[in-house]
Amino acid sequence: MLLKDLDIQHNPVMVPEILKYLEVTSGGRYIDCTLGEAGHTKSILDASTPGGEVLGIDADHEAIEVSHSRLIDYQERFVSVNDNFRNLKKIAMRKDFIPSHGILMDLGVSSLQLNLETRGFSFMRKSPLDMRFSFNQKLTADQVVNSFQENELADILYNFGEERRARKIAKIIVQNRPIKYSSELAEIIKKNIKVTNFKINPATKTFQALRIYINEELSALSDALEQSLDILGIGGKLAVISYHSLEDRIVKNFFRKESKYCICLPNVSKCECNHEPKLKIITKKPISPSSNEIASNRRSRSAKLRVIERIL
Ligand SMILES: C[S@@+](CC[C@H](N)C(=O)[O-])C[C@H]1O[C@@H](n2cnc3c(N)ncnc32)[C@H](O)[C@@H]1O
Repeated sequence: MLLKDLDIQHNPVMVPEILKYLEVTSGGRYIDCTLGEAGHTKSILDASTPGGEVLGIDADHEAIEVSHSRLIDYQERFVSVNDNFRNLKKIAMRKDFIPSHGILMDLGVSSLQLNLETRGFSFMRKSPLDMRFSFNQKLTADQVVNSFQENELADILYNFGEERRARKIAKIIVQNRPIKYSSELAEIIKKNIKVTNFKINPATKTFQALRIYINEELSALSDALEQSLDILGIGGKLAVISYHSLEDRIVKNFFRKESKYCICLPNVSKCECNHEPKLKIITKKPISPSSNEIASNRRSRSAKLRVIERIL
């Protein structure tokens, strides 16, 4: 079966909020750094007619393939690049999208990635342990799970999953090697770890940690945030949807730092940095999906949206 024929629909999160905060209008030029299955991009293209354009980026070539089939009627206003968004500025320059009116980042994994048997992102499926966004990357979850030292594994689970039981889970993993499938890894954790919250699978944080580590998601996010300010025109907006505290903290701290007049260390009595704010924070507190949206799309329940405007 071809990817485009798969009946997997990603429900884009907080679409009305994104259109409102990015102030999507006719003729606007927008960059979707996390194209996925093109749910947000399609809404932006619809809201920016006539003349609006979107540059869609995704590290995953399968996402690019699916989004092209979904956007067949928008070909003249949509261009895609199969790359990591840590190269955002280079990509925007190459595709002549500087300055842009708005940039969107909807972080993490898509329904397509979670549902494909081949990708290994879901603990519900018997998939080979892969978890790479791009097949060009070398490191797979299989290599981490089956060849990393116990202490390295524990550090990954703690640092990228905020897993309190990191040491115990790392030990269990090492004792049960070789582990071939994602469902097998989840089962081993479930069998050996005391379940404290029956609503959440005990392997959730382990899977999150492995995925973040393998795809270097946090450093890619930091790099792209820095570059976004050189791409937005004055008055342009950046909207970021994050799904866990590690991502949200990076976004929040970056927005705070770049919206301040002074970034000197607290022990400096007189400002020496001459820092000027490059952005204004639009959402003082993160925006969450409505209860209706959460009821109809469970994946949206942990989403947090933060938005800034470029002012300098
Ligand atoms: C939550 S999904 C986006 C869904 C999309 N907004 C939609 O409406 O269909 C996240 C997508 O971002 C991609 N992605 C995550 N991190 C990336 C990175 N550093 N560079 C490029 N793409 C990335 C993933 O491959 C995935 O397809």
